[in-house]
Amino acid sequence: MSGDPLFDLEGRVAVVTGGMGQLGAAYASGLAERGMSVAIFDLATEAPPELAARLEDGRIRAFEVDVTERASIEAATRALVDDWGVPHVLVNNAALDSPPDAPAEEVGPFETYPEASFDQVMDVNVKGTLLCCQVIGGAMASVGRGSIVNVSSIYGLLSPVQDLYEFRRAAGETFVKPVAYSVSKSAILNLTRYLATYWAKSGVRVNTLTLAGVWNEQPKEFLEAYEARVPLGRMLTPGEALGAVVFLASDASSYVTGANVVVDGGWSAW
Ligand SMILES: NC(=O)c1ccc[n+]([C@@H]2O[C@H](COP(=O)([O-])OP(=O)(O)OC[C@H]3O[C@@H](n4cnc5c(N)ncnc54)[C@H](O)[C@@H]3O)[C@@H](O)[C@H]2O)c1
Repeated sequence: MSGDPLFDLEGRVAVVTGGMGQLGAAYASGLAERGMSVAIFDLATEAPPELAARLEDGRIRAFEVDVTERASIEAATRALVDDWGVPHVLVNNAALDSPPDAPAEEVGPFETYPEASFDQVMDVNVKGTLLCCQVIGGAMASVGRGSIVNVSSIYGLLSPVQDLYEFRRAAGETFVKPVAYSVSKSAILNLTRYLATYWAKSGVRVNTLTLAGVWNEQPKEFLEAYEARVPLGRMLTPGEALGAVVFLASDASSYVTGANVVVDGGWSAW
C-alpha cells in the first residue's frame, strides 16, 4: 500500500495477540490494509466493528488462544503455519492492566495489593509474552527471519504518576494505580534484550514498543491532568501506535534489534 519498499509488508504474515482489544484491533486492521495476512490470538472472540470486513474477506483470522497456555498457542500456530506459513511478524500486545475480577484492594494501598492479582497480571503480561516468543519466535528462528514487537508502557519505564488519579480520590474513592502492571511491563524490556541477542544470528529481530496512554474517552479531569503532564499536550491515538508497529515490522527497521521504541509524546523527556 505504501509503494515504498522500506515499509512494504505485502504478502507477509503477522500474529497479533490481544487483537480484539483497542490497540490490537488497530494493529490487525492496519497491517491487513498494508497487505498482510493477520492472525489474531485472543481469549475474546467478539470482534470490534473495524475488524468485521477483514474477517469476512479472510485477510484477518481469529484464533481463540489463551497466551498463558503453551498448548493453546501451539495449536493455533500449527493451524496458522499449515495455511499461511511461518509468520514474519509477532506483536505481543495481549495484556491485563487489572484482572477483570479484581477485588477492591487491587486499587488500594501497595501494602495490601493482592498476591492473586499480581500472579494473574504477571502470568498474562510476562509469561504470555514469553510463551508466544518461544512458540512463534522459535518457528521464525527455524526459518531464519522474523520481527517480534513486545509491547510495554511508560508505566514499565517509569513509575505511574499517582497525582493523575487525584480526581478519583477527591470524589471519595480509594485509588492507587496498581503495582503489578508496572512490574510486568518492566520485565518486557529485558525479555526483549535477552531475545534480541539470543536470536540475532538467526535473523529474528526483537524490539520493545513503549506506549503512553491512549485516548479512549477518559474522564475530563483525567484528561486535563494527563495533558498538562505530557509535552505534546494530548494522549496517543491508536493510529500513531500503528506507525511504530509498521516501522518495527518492516524492513525499514532491519538494523534495529534489542531497542526500546518510545512513543510517548515526550512523557519521558522531562
Ligand atoms: N491503552 C493504553 O493506554 C496503553 C498504554 C500503554 C501500553 N498499552 C499496552 O498496549 C497493549 C494493548 O492495550 P489495550 O489498551 O488495547 O488493551 P485491551 O484491554 O483493549 O486489549 C487487550 C486484549 O488482550 C486480550 N487478552 C487478555 N488476556 C489474554 C490472554 N490470557 N490470552 C489472550 N488474550 C488475552 C483481551 O481479551 C483483549 O482483547 C497492552 O500490552 C497494554 O499494556 C496500552
